[in-house]
Amino acid sequence: MGRVPVKHLLASLVLLLPALAFADHELDNRDLRKGRALYAVHCASCHGAKLEGQPDWRRPGKDGIRPAPPHDETGHTWHHDNQYLFDYTRLGGKALFEARGLPEIQSGMPASVEDLTDDGIWDILAYIRSTWPDRIRQIQATTNPRHER
Ligand code: HEC
Repeated sequence: MGRVPVKHLLASLVLLLPALAFADHELDNRDLRKGRALYAVHCASCHGAKLEGQPDWRRPGKDGIRPAPPHDETGHTWHHDNQYLFDYTRLGGKALFEARGLPEIQSGMPASVEDLTDDGIWDILAYIRSTWPDRIRQIQATTNPRHER
């Protein structure tokens, strides 16, 4: 039986990889320590120091505004793709829904402050993702559109 040269095997592996990998690379190789520190400064006051969200977060207040949901696996952050989470954080809920043609939706989620850089937001989101169990991370990865590295 002839043996397949290793370099041929490697070449076919490299060709296969992009098809196999769901694109979640915006969150790959991020600075998780920085993300954790930025989360504590910018997000923890509403979403909780342990990402646990506000008490009774499923029930909107009398003003119709929803409390801040958890970012751990008990919330629904992981139901959304990377870009949606980024836009939500950058623009805040009100501007995001307006941009999507839903100006009537109220939101308690503010736009992020200007000195929080794009990289800073990705670091925060990567830190949030790093707290999820593998199974949840895999499900979230499938919400991202495939794109080439
Ligand atoms: C002043 C309170 C407040 C702060 C600070 C805050 N949020 Fe929020 N956030 C909310 C509320 C309230 C919601 C609930 C949804 C809504 O009303 O639009 C929310 C929703 C979200 C969502 C949507 C989650 C989902 O599953 O739909 C994301 C993502 C999010 N916040 C990320 C962040 C990040 C990251 C930070 C820090 C940079 C942050 N938030 C800081 C109040 C806050």
